[in-house]
Amino acid sequence: MESSKTMSDGDFAKLRAIVYSQTGINIGDSRRSLLVTRLRPRLRDLGLTDYKAYISRLSQDAAERQELTNRVTTNETYFYRTPRVWTYFNEVYVPGFIRKAQNRPLRVWSAAASTGEEAYTTGVFLEEMRSRADRFEYAILGTDISSRVIDVATAGLYKGRPVARFRQDRPDLFARHMTGSDESGWQVTSQIRSRIRFRQHSLLDPLKNTAQFDVIFLRNVLIYFTAADQEVILKHARSLLHPDGVLFIGESESLKHINTDFEQVEPIIYRPVSRSGGPAA
Ligand SMILES: C[S@@+](CC[C@H](N)C(=O)[O-])C[C@H]1O[C@@H](n2cnc3c(N)ncnc32)[C@H](O)[C@@H]1O
Repeated sequence: MESSKTMSDGDFAKLRAIVYSQTGINIGDSRRSLLVTRLRPRLRDLGLTDYKAYISRLSQDAAERQELTNRVTTNETYFYRTPRVWTYFNEVYVPGFIRKAQNRPLRVWSAAASTGEEAYTTGVFLEEMRSRADRFEYAILGTDISSRVIDVATAGLYKGRPVARFRQDRPDLFARHMTGSDESGWQVTSQIRSRIRFRQHSLLDPLKNTAQFDVIFLRNVLIYFTAADQEVILKHARSLLHPDGVLFIGESESLKHINTDFEQVEPIIYRPVSRSGGPAA
């Protein structure tokens, strides 16, 4: 008999379909135990004894469907993740943007921002540039499908692991741009915070009410989608990326197996390709 510890084939299929329609996340055949681990505590909180009752609850309750999204997404992230991304960003892309003397702010989208560490790391590096380059400005948008992580990102207060590597590898930047303490937590300075916004958004939907971005971070999220949905996500990203812009994906990700309008600059770093086939002008 089914209980909150076991999930029948039929209920697994229904829950996978609900997760897919809510998020686009493709839960593989072998991941039933992941769903059980993530959802069992929720069933307990709701006083439900089996997944059938939970599925029925989901069909009537939009807030519960958001709670499901918050629980099934994997939100692992930390400041200064994958240092070579930041080396390219700081030493190649941003100086190139500044050299072209663009008379507008550099705009960054941290798509799948999770709890905000990627957006705030970007802010730290761009604030460094701002202190050195004349009239340089920037704006950063972080989005994620999980309402829980957007709340954490908006609060922007970190303790322990999320900041540990950054603090150890870049103590100079940490001292200049982070305020707080180990007890109360650390936040980036208010100058940086004032240039960062977070909002909820699904990558499978077009992002509305926004100008184009110069930099899009789409890191460690493509792995959760089918190839067809990855193509949809990359099409949206392409339409929002400036022709001279850059796209960063995650260390274990590649665009080789899908059809996109991007070409590789180096592994995990891409630029848009114009319709005619050459690099965008
Ligand atoms: C592993 S985190 C990556 C965080 C950050 N980009 C990094 O690389 O450190 C993946 C994030 O993707 C988000 N996500 C999953 N499906 C999504 C979707 N359809 N639209 C937007 N975000 C999604 C999850 O909520 C999660 O916070």
